[in-house]
Amino acid sequence: MRPKHFLNFENFSRQDLSHIIDRAIEIKSKSETSNVFDKKTLGLIFQKPSTRTRVSFEVAMNKLGGNTIFLSSSELQMSRGEPIADTSKVLSSMVDAVVIRNDSHEELKLFSENSSVPVINGLTDLFHPCQILADLMTFKEKNEGEILNKVCWIGDGNNVCNSYIEAASIFDFEISIFCPKGCEPYQPLLNKAKDFITLASSKNEALEKAQIVTTDVWTSMNNETSAKERRKTFKNFFVEEEDMGLAGDNAIFLHCLPAHRGEEISFTMLEHAQSMVWDQAENRLHAQQSLLEFLLAD
Ligand code: CP
Ligand code: NVA
Repeated sequence: MRPKHFLNFENFSRQDLSHIIDRAIEIKSKSETSNVFDKKTLGLIFQKPSTRTRVSFEVAMNKLGGNTIFLSSSELQMSRGEPIADTSKVLSSMVDAVVIRNDSHEELKLFSENSSVPVINGLTDLFHPCQILADLMTFKEKNEGEILNKVCWIGDGNNVCNSYIEAASIFDFEISIFCPKGCEPYQPLLNKAKDFITLASSKNEALEKAQIVTTDVWTSMNNETSAKERRKTFKNFFVEEEDMGLAGDNAIFLHCLPAHRGEEISFTMLEHAQSMVWDQAENRLHAQQSLLEFLLAD
C-alpha cells in the first residue's frame, strides 16, 4: 500500500482535515501523551532554518513515545550530489516517516514518490500546510461553532498564502489578498481556486468582514538577496493596530512567525488584544501531534 503523504492539501478531504484539527484541539485540552509510536522514528531533513516546525515535530513525536533524527541537509550525502530518489529509498527503509523543509516543492514530490513511508512538507517554496492546520485550529478553538467565511491576507503571495488558498477551496471560505503587483500567489493555484480568491485593490477591501487577519514576512527564506528591493515594493503592505478595527467584529490576528516588527507588522501588533500569535505558535505542536497520528496510525 502506498503511504499517505502530506505535501499540500490537494489530496485531503474536508472531513480528514477537520478530523486532524478537531483531534488537535482535543489533544491540547487533555494534554494527551501516549506510547503509540514506541520504537518509531521520525526523520527530519531541513535545508533551511526552523524554530517552530522542527521543535513541534520533535516534541510531538516524543509525546507519542517515538523518537526523531534531525538531519541538516548539508550533512547528508545529498549535499555531495547523492540523488534525492536514492536518499529517499534508503531513509524510508529505516525511519517511519520523514518531515522535509526544502526549497523546491518539485524535489519534495520526487522524494515522496520514492519513499515507502509518509513524507510531510515542513515548508517548501510553494506550500506550508502544517502552518495552516495550526491557524485553522486557532480560529476554531477561539470561535467554537462559528463558520469561517473570510480571511484577509496582507503582503507577499508566498508559500503560506498558497496553503491558505488551498484551505479556502476545501473549507469554502473567501481569501481576500492585498499584495503588490507581481507578488501574487502561485498562478496555477489562482486559476484553480479563483472562486475563493479576491485580489483586493485596497487594504480596507481585504480587511472588511475578515475573521482572520494575517500576514507574513516580506522576504521569505532564500530570497534574502532581494530583501532591500522588497522593502520598497512592500512598504504599504503591513498590518497595524488600527487595521483590526476595519476587520470583522472579533477578528483575530495571526502571523506564522518569525515576524519582522517595523516591516510587515507594526512594532506592537503581536501584543494587540486580538492577536493570537502565541496560541497559534503553540498550536503547531498539537496540530503536528494530531497529523502524525493521522498519517502513521496503523
Ligand atoms: N512558522 C514556522 O514555520 O516557523 P519556523 O520557521 O520557525 O519553523
Ligand atoms: N514565508 C516564510 C515562512 C516562514 C515560516 C518563508 O518561507 O521564509
